Amino acid sequence: MTQQPLWWQKGIIYQIYPRSYQDSNNDGIGDLPGIRQRLDHLQSLNIDAIWLSPIYPSPMHDFGYDVADYVGINPLFGTMDDFDTLLADVHARGLKLIIDLVPNHTSDEHAWFQESRSSRDNPKRDWYIWHDPAPDGGPPNNWRSFFGGPAWTFDKATGQYYLHQFVTQQPELNYRHPDVLPAMLDVMRFWLDKGVDGFRVDVIWLMIKDAQFRNEPPNPDWDGVDPFNSHRHIYTQNMPEVHDLIRQMRAVLDAYDERMMVGEIYLPYDELMAYYGPNFDECHMPFNFHLIQAKWQAQNIRQLVNSYEAALPAGATPNWVLGNHDQHRIATRVGVDQARVANMLLLTLRGTPTTYYGEELGMVDGHIPPAFIQDPPAVNQPEIAHIIGRDPERTPMQWDGSVNAGFSGETAVPWLPVADNYKTINVAAQNEDLTSMLNFYRALTQLRRDEPALHVGSYQDVEANNENVLAYVRESVEGNGRSFLILLNFSGEPQQVNIKDLGTTTRIILATDMQRTGELALANFTLAPNQGLILQL
Ligand code: GLC
Repeated sequence: MTQQPLWWQKGIIYQIYPRSYQDSNNDGIGDLPGIRQRLDHLQSLNIDAIWLSPIYPSPMHDFGYDVADYVGINPLFGTMDDFDTLLADVHARGLKLIIDLVPNHTSDEHAWFQESRSSRDNPKRDWYIWHDPAPDGGPPNNWRSFFGGPAWTFDKATGQYYLHQFVTQQPELNYRHPDVLPAMLDVMRFWLDKGVDGFRVDVIWLMIKDAQFRNEPPNPDWDGVDPFNSHRHIYTQNMPEVHDLIRQMRAVLDAYDERMMVGEIYLPYDELMAYYGPNFDECHMPFNFHLIQAKWQAQNIRQLVNSYEAALPAGATPNWVLGNHDQHRIATRVGVDQARVANMLLLTLRGTPTTYYGEELGMVDGHIPPAFIQDPPAVNQPEIAHIIGRDPERTPMQWDGSVNAGFSGETAVPWLPVADNYKTINVAAQNEDLTSMLNFYRALTQLRRDEPALHVGSYQDVEANNENVLAYVRESVEGNGRSFLILLNFSGEPQQVNIKDLGTTTRIILATDMQRTGELALANFTLAPNQGLILQL
């Protein structure tokens, strides 16, 4: 008998970017009491776990990913009491709460860095990565920041450079120093003791850097757009020593019941799989971001899904993601109509899905006038801000058609402008419309929850005899429950489909338009433009 799947193996994760979800005190910034007010909505989505982007004290140079205190709550978001109340309420509803852990770097305002930079002989000096200047006085090597410019900043007072792969106010911790990891493991225990169900671990594959500080080689495949990609990051990312750190983090989690960690890792599949650990002793799941990066074309996605399935170690829990706070929204990338197909894909593939807030409405990227741009990589590199800037996908959640979309009170000024389409694309309006994206999303998540074939069943690729159509079967593993055929039209044109081997007729269980129903002859039928169907076999 197979083991019962754990919550993170069969559930749906929903990411909240706290600044943008619900502002309860009209300061224009979302907060913890705001999230608490929206638990009915969250529960109505049939999701299983909420992941909160960072809520720690922070000077907000990278909107909270610059942590000044790992065991506190930023007053902008509320108090520790607010957090405890939220956690208790989330649990009372049978949901899980995971929080962001940012171990690679701190804020330059963190007490550890304040000590570290105070003098060369401070005991915490080597908790961070300091290096003498190059002979010409410049940075020690050619490492670059993701957010533009060198990854090194000179500290006049002590005459050395410190490393930061993001903004200058995010100095990187030195995990080659024996005291740093134990300090971070204590941070994990602090939150686990409170009862959080796990962590999304920020840039986990960057946590350790080359001990010799070698220059990185040029990238021959660079497309000339983002200077960060002009070099291959072989000495700052995915270093072999990182796995030992992750195993020690995992051991902390394993001392508790059913806690989990999902690692942020952008790597090709062959390298990504190593992050499950040789004995499943590293990340419970390394995030699979390939649907975000892939060309949205049926045969391409088919090949991607098949290669992921083939690369996964036996017994590993797969996962899929359509969007997050660092990526342009799925409805912008593939179009609003096709976004329903994308969600049907996300929620019927084998593996744990993650939904980014607003995807359940088909929210699109907001329009950010140049004067409102806040995201550091965009501020630092205005010429490519429209490509790399992350403000557009972080605009406030669209709750209703009132001024500020119900995110903030009508007199408040939200920290980012609400997207233009909020009057029609919002929770209140879509609640009333039986065939809205929101009600489609709920129907999909309910079906996924009800059917073992969809939340834990097997995946089998099917030939649809049409290059614009993706087809696959999800079968329940132990014969308990129904099996399904999923058909997805990736194009904006009607498509003929011809599937011979799966029987003659099947019944439509759910269609992306929420309207098509009835029986369907598999040997020859038409999928409408941007249509996806779930059929019972
Ligand atoms: C991760 C986060 C991103 C942040 C960066 C630095 O990639 O997702 O938002 O800017 O790490 O912490």
